[in-house]
Amino acid sequence: MSVLLTNIGLLATQDPELGELTDAAIVLSDDRTAWIGPSARAPAADEQADLDGRAVLPGFVDSHAHLVFAGDRAAEFAARMAGTRYVAGGIQTTVAATRAASDDLLRANLARLARELLVAGVTTFECKSGYGLDVPQEQRSLRLASEFTPETTFLGAHVVPPEVAREDYLASVCGPMLAACAPHARWIDAFCEDGAFSVDECRLVLQAGLAAGLGARLHANQLGPGPGVGLAVELGAASADHCTYLTSADVDDLATGSTVATLLPLVEFSTRSPYPDARTLLDAGAAVAIATDCNPGSGYSTSMPLAIALAVREMRMTPREAVYAATMGGAAALRRDDIGRIAVGQRADLTVLEAPSYIHLAYRPGVPLIAQVWRSGVRVV
Ligand code: NIG
Ligand code: FE
Repeated sequence: MSVLLTNIGLLATQDPELGELTDAAIVLSDDRTAWIGPSARAPAADEQADLDGRAVLPGFVDSHAHLVFAGDRAAEFAARMAGTRYVAGGIQTTVAATRAASDDLLRANLARLARELLVAGVTTFECKSGYGLDVPQEQRSLRLASEFTPETTFLGAHVVPPEVAREDYLASVCGPMLAACAPHARWIDAFCEDGAFSVDECRLVLQAGLAAGLGARLHANQLGPGPGVGLAVELGAASADHCTYLTSADVDDLATGSTVATLLPLVEFSTRSPYPDARTLLDAGAAVAIATDCNPGSGYSTSMPLAIALAVREMRMTPREAVYAATMGGAAALRRDDIGRIAVGQRADLTVLEAPSYIHLAYRPGVPLIAQVWRSGVRVV
């Protein structure tokens, strides 16, 4: 089954060789892109749709989200806006609600958020555990997450739950909890921060995960400067996430290593934190991704378009760089080469904008500009 999308005003492929094409057309064949070229020379296909001059981008790749949870923390957000600081300990509120929830309730919440992401143009998302914090609950979280995405991450090292001694918990995360979770996870992650886990504890957790065959990623430098980014680069982690407080040594590490700096502007927005300067990272040559970090505590938004707008307005990225970070950057942070750009043979994941250019994502913040979404060659929005 093939589909011809014709009369594309601007096709921003994110492919380094193809670049941006005007008056373009694209043919999707089954789940792949089969042809790209000028509208005037488009071949015939089983079906055809006229995009009437709209801009087309690859589907966004959200490489950081926490979607297995119950309840919300709206009151905590309101208190924060009245002056209370964000602290890691708020996670325990969500742990209690998540443990008490049925599989069906967690699944329904996941389905709702996965749909929100899709409507926001996200065609691939990563999803972490981390609100269960015991063996059966963490395993359940990952089992449920796997129903929605192959990009699942074991985050047992989110915080230490109050009922377990610290050393015992760490031993479990690196031992029986990891063994129970690894079959349902592609990645391991840890929260390297005051109030969560020290750099030495995170090293143990990530090394145990790597030894079990998982890929490493790390929550680093969110609440203050610290050794997290250095650890992520040292271990060759796919991604160091947050990067809110970076020293020039951190920037150098990210520029020279293979670790993607994943920026989460919706978190700075929702925690009223300073935004990191993406310009410095990009100018140094670091690979940068933008993700939502959708979670009930530090940022409860699935809006990749708003994340792009904030990255442009507050982190000094150009619209072109921000779109690249939300597509190819996310793919790099997940070490995927089949998604994130539009090219022949790539997975046919596309976002059609209700606008002539992707610049409008930042120029018209908060406006619903996602007109259509295609995933694996099928129109899903
Ligand atoms: O990425 N930083 C750690 N974890 C989440 C927040 C979790 C929460 O507050 O519930 C984050 O910001
Ligand atoms: Fe997170």
